[in-house]
Amino acid sequence: MSSFSTAATTVSIAPAARIFGDFRLPGDKSISHRSAMFAALGGGRSRIDNYSTARDCQNTLDCLAALGVKYQRQDSIVTIEGVGLDGFTEARQTLDAGNSGTTIRLLSGILAGQPFTTVIGGDESLSRRPMRRIIEPLTMMGARIEARDGTYPPLRINGGNLHAIEYRPPMASAQVKTCVLLAGLFADGETTIIEATPTRNHTEIMLRESGAALKIGHDENGERITIPGRQPLAALGNYTVAGDISSSAFFLIAALVAPEGELRLQHIGVNPSRAALIDVLTEMGGQIAIENARHAHGEPVADLVARSSSLTGKVELSSGVIANLIDEIPVLAIAGTQIDGSMTIRGAGELRVKESDRIRAIVDNLRLMGVTIEEFEDGFHLDGPQQLRGARVNSYGDHRIAMAFSVAGLIAIGETVIDGADAASVSLPEFYSLLSAAGAPVKLGS
Ligand code: S3P
Repeated sequence: MSSFSTAATTVSIAPAARIFGDFRLPGDKSISHRSAMFAALGGGRSRIDNYSTARDCQNTLDCLAALGVKYQRQDSIVTIEGVGLDGFTEARQTLDAGNSGTTIRLLSGILAGQPFTTVIGGDESLSRRPMRRIIEPLTMMGARIEARDGTYPPLRINGGNLHAIEYRPPMASAQVKTCVLLAGLFADGETTIIEATPTRNHTEIMLRESGAALKIGHDENGERITIPGRQPLAALGNYTVAGDISSSAFFLIAALVAPEGELRLQHIGVNPSRAALIDVLTEMGGQIAIENARHAHGEPVADLVARSSSLTGKVELSSGVIANLIDEIPVLAIAGTQIDGSMTIRGAGELRVKESDRIRAIVDNLRLMGVTIEEFEDGFHLDGPQQLRGARVNSYGDHRIAMAFSVAGLIAIGETVIDGADAASVSLPEFYSLLSAAGAPVKLGS
């Protein structure tokens, strides 16, 4: 992997005839963030194996350390000394969440419950992302939070005594849900979140792994998750993070659309609240085998094998399923260009407030590659199959756009140059090494 580990702002990709391989991927980013926070909140030491190599997840560790949490990291093994609910200490500097929305939004839930003030911010992209979605419920619970224009980081969080609320987030967001549940741990009484559209449930699973009492039920408004406050959490103990399904998406689709492809990815998290991409690709005729299905720490895990396939059908995705594949839409769009049929995505307006405006980025880059695509405020439509042409495209500083358009380059005529390709390390620093090892012609520099 060493030859691709240097930060390269530009990467060139040539067409690949064969995509082959058998490997493990680093740990899931969402689960890694949570494992660090829950290990910190627990009593005693936890050892986390296969902790994500994402830059985002290192930001979470750095922020926790600034709040007095001791940890040691050796590659992907992280040992954390839990401080319990009341052991965090006031940070001496502004916390830096970097590019990571998950770090700032989840940690804000913990910070709201602290008897001190914390300022937390991040990079240019994070400073443009909306935080009113967490400011509102945390304020209802009793925290006082200042933000630029009332919504943008940095956030100044004056924590304190919190009281329980019942809250219905106006958008489907696991970050908002988790933020409120974490704040709920510090509140007097029982805090309830009502989700009209279920989102990834790693937090609920990990709370139970930490011995927390949690009630999950359903009523006419959706799923009700209730957490009693002021309950101590146990250490996570020895915890192994499942491989990242969102990172796997780039490799699965690279194998599916390759003239010859067979790729096995071991020990991938296939939690249904994250795995809708597999169902959608399978419905499109994608050959994806799910092998050795098992559970680890309450999370479903399996080995995934993708083989070169002919994609067909009229794919129409809207609100209900979107939350369960939101991060995979950029690379799903690349698969969409190869479908003998069409792809329509609606109800995905949240993509506009991710690390970049991902609808814009998908549409603009695909157009540069010669694709005809219609843009909607909340999605896009394209007819397939369409031949991609190599072009100079931009990552918009967004890891998933960099990686999705690297996969596009594998099936384009000629060379594709991705500017800002180093953004990939926000979630998968090994991306170009692994892609190259699988047979992709990857060249650093233009
Ligand atoms: C995440 C939730 C999703 C997702 C993000 C990670 C999480 O964001 O897009 O990459 O770990 O909870 P939203 O909660 O904004 O939908």
